Amino acid sequence: MNYTLITGASAGIGEVFAKELARAGKNLILVARRKDKLEALAQELKAQFGVEVESLAVDLTSTESSSIIVKQLESSNWTIDGLINNAGFGDRGAFVDLPLDRQLQMIQLNVTTLVELTHRLLPKMLNQQSPYIINVASTAAFQAGPNMAIYYATKAFVLSFSEALHEELSGKGIAVSALCPGATLSEFATEANMTDTKLFKAGAMTAEAVVKKSLRQKDRAIVITGWKNILSVWSGKVSPRFITRKIAGWLQA
Ligand SMILES: NC(=O)c1ccc[n+]([C@@H]2O[C@H](COP(=O)([O-])OP(=O)(O)OC[C@H]3O[C@@H](n4cnc5c(N)ncnc54)[C@H](OP(=O)(O)O)[C@@H]3O)[C@@H](O)[C@H]2O)c1
Repeated sequence: MNYTLITGASAGIGEVFAKELARAGKNLILVARRKDKLEALAQELKAQFGVEVESLAVDLTSTESSSIIVKQLESSNWTIDGLINNAGFGDRGAFVDLPLDRQLQMIQLNVTTLVELTHRLLPKMLNQQSPYIINVASTAAFQAGPNMAIYYATKAFVLSFSEALHEELSGKGIAVSALCPGATLSEFATEANMTDTKLFKAGAMTAEAVVKKSLRQKDRAIVITGWKNILSVWSGKVSPRFITRKIAGWLQA
């Protein structure tokens, strides 16, 4: 049986991806740490939409996590035709003040596990009908982010990696997209200590709007959600880097 695997499906953008894809009749594998939330969501989606939904409670900051997931897929004969690398977190503060181990975990989750899952799942995905990968980056990917240095750098990686894969794989029948939301309502801002920043006070999009646009445009290399975010990315393209990084730092001072 074919499944879409969604990381970070217990909350926020990942949870909404799960709901939208179940509504479209897709079978799902939900991955995150909070088992109770995953199981409750799985029950809800099975009952409401009649799809198959499996949940895997895995800490994706563990270096073993991608091999644990792949072993489970193989032993259960679950085939993946959609991969949504969505799990991620940020943390606001000066690089030197934030604990090093938390910042290294951020790199492991936002970058390394995303790369490992993609590398391990991609070969078999290429044999499926209309397979796709959505990697959740951010508008943070487009400039340096003082006060969130590592988070912005991880998202720049995700954007660059996904764009390159999109090109490498074009003509091979698989869609690869980097989703770049701006401020979005979810647990992210609280987790990242960002609720009082100018960025979030200026208004955030709903996760529903972000996910609907991503799924509509999953054939595109880069999907930026919201006109304000599109304008800010494009104005950043024609501004000197010293200005864009100063603005990013000011928005989350
Ligand atoms: N919200 C925004 O403003 C915004 C803007 C741009 C980009 N993004 C990106 O969007 C993605 C989703 O974020 P969100 O806004 O939906 O945040 P969220 O509401 O905090 O959700 C994060 C998800 O990731 C999971 N997760 C976190 N650490 C994990 C770990 N160690 N192992 C496994 N799963 C883990 C969480 O589940 P558990 O806690 O159950 O593990 C949760 O399901 C992230 O990559 C984020 O960087 C968010």
